[in-house]
Amino acid sequence: MNSPGSRRIVLGVTGGIAAYKAAELTRLLVKDGAEVHVVLTESGARFVGAVTYQALSGNRVWTDLWDPSIANNMAHIDLTRGAQAIVIAPASADFLAKLANGLADDLLTTLCLARPRAGIDGAQADCPLLVAPAMNRQMWESPATQRNIARLIEDGVFLLGPAAGDQACGEVGYGRMLESDELFGDVISHFQPKVLAGRRVLLTAGPTFEPIDPVRGITNSSSGKMGFALARAAHEAGALVTLVSGPVSLATPRGVARVDVQSARDMREAVMSRAQGSDVFIAVAAVADYRPAEMSQQKIKRSRELRTLNLEPNPDILAEVGALPSPPYCVGFAAESEKLEDHASAKRIAKNIPLIVGNLVQDGLGADDNRVVLFDDNGSTPLAPAPKLDLARQIVAHVARRIHPHR
Ligand code: PMT
Repeated sequence: MNSPGSRRIVLGVTGGIAAYKAAELTRLLVKDGAEVHVVLTESGARFVGAVTYQALSGNRVWTDLWDPSIANNMAHIDLTRGAQAIVIAPASADFLAKLANGLADDLLTTLCLARPRAGIDGAQADCPLLVAPAMNRQMWESPATQRNIARLIEDGVFLLGPAAGDQACGEVGYGRMLESDELFGDVISHFQPKVLAGRRVLLTAGPTFEPIDPVRGITNSSSGKMGFALARAAHEAGALVTLVSGPVSLATPRGVARVDVQSARDMREAVMSRAQGSDVFIAVAAVADYRPAEMSQQKIKRSRELRTLNLEPNPDILAEVGALPSPPYCVGFAAESEKLEDHASAKRIAKNIPLIVGNLVQDGLGADDNRVVLFDDNGSTPLAPAPKLDLARQIVAHVARRIHPHR
C-alpha cells in the first residue's frame, strides 16, 4: 500500500504556535484514508482546541492520562496497539527533552514510551515515532536540544525537519516546523519500502529548449510531472537522487538534488558528468531530437518572405549513457502516438538499454495521470492507469527487482 489509507496514526500535538499546521495535517491524513487519533498535551490544547481535531479526525481526542471515562485506564497502551506510526507535530523543546530522557508524566510521553517496538520481547509489531520539532532558533540550536535530538536519533526516532525561515517570534533561522503538506508527504514517504537504499539514481525530466533567437525556441509540452514523480519515488525508496530538469514550473521533491538546464546539449553535459557514479539512470525528459543549426544573436524580424530553419541533430543522451564501459542500469521512456509496443521495443534495442517505459502521448503528456507499459527482456508489463506518483513507485519497485533479483 502506498499511502496511509486504512492506516492508524496517532498524532501527538504539543505546545507551539505551529499547532495550527497539525490541524491541517489531520485533515490531509484523513482525506487520504488514514484513521487519525489525536493526543493533546496540556500546552498543546492551549493553541488549537480538542473540538477542532475531533471535527477533523472524526474521533475523540485524548488529553488525560487519568481520564475516568476509560474503563481500563489504559489509553496510553491501547492507542498505539495496531497503530502504524506516532507522529508528534509540533514537538516542542520541552517534549523532546522528556522523550530523550524517558520521562512519562502525561498521556503523550507515556504512550511514546509504551509504543510497540519490533524485536523487543519478540514483538513483531513496530510503531515508529516521527517527530516534527518546532521552536525558536536559539532553543533549537541550544546544546541541550541538540544533545536530546542526537539521543533521539540514536534511539531510532525519525526527525521531520525542522526548516529554516521566519519564525513566529520575529527571528529567522532553524526551528520552524515543516508545512503541513510537507509533513504529510514525509509521513507517506516513511511508509514506502526502502528498495533502493543507498543507491545513486540520476534522472532527466521535462522538455528541453533549443533557442532560435533570444526570444524564441523549439520545445515541447512535457510538464516534467512524470520525471519529478520518479525522482520523488526514488528518494522515498532510499536512493540518493539527482534530477536534471529542463525548464518546468514544478517544485523540487524534498531531498532531491536538482540541476536546471535548458538545451539538450546542457542536459547531456549535466548527465555525462554524473552518469559514471550512478547506479541507475532514468531518462524521462522529452529531449529535442534537433536544434537550430544557428541561433540568431538578435531577434528575427518579421518579413513576408518564406523562411527556412536549418536543424541539426542533438546528442542522444540515453544511448550515450548506455554505451559507457560500465553503465548504470538504464531506464528509457518512449512517448508514442501509435503502435506503442513496436516503437518502444525498437527504441530499447536501438539504445541498448535493459528497460523502457512506453506511454502514449494522449494518455500522459502534461497530465497528472498516465498509463504505461514496461518492456524488458522478460516481456511487457502493463500497469493500470493511475496518478503519476503511484506509477513512479511501481516503476521504482520494478527497477529494484531487476537490480537486486534475489531480494
Ligand atoms: O513530463 P510529463 O508531462 O509528465 O510527460 C511525461 C512524458 C510523456 C514526457 C514521459 O512519460 C515520456 O514519455 N518521456 C520520454 C519522451 C521522449 O522524448 O521519448 P523519445 O521516444 O523521444 O525518447 C526515447 C528516450 O530517449 C527517452 O528516454 C528520452 O529521454 C531519451 N532521449 C531522447 C532523445 C535524446 N536526444 N536524448 C535522449 O536521452
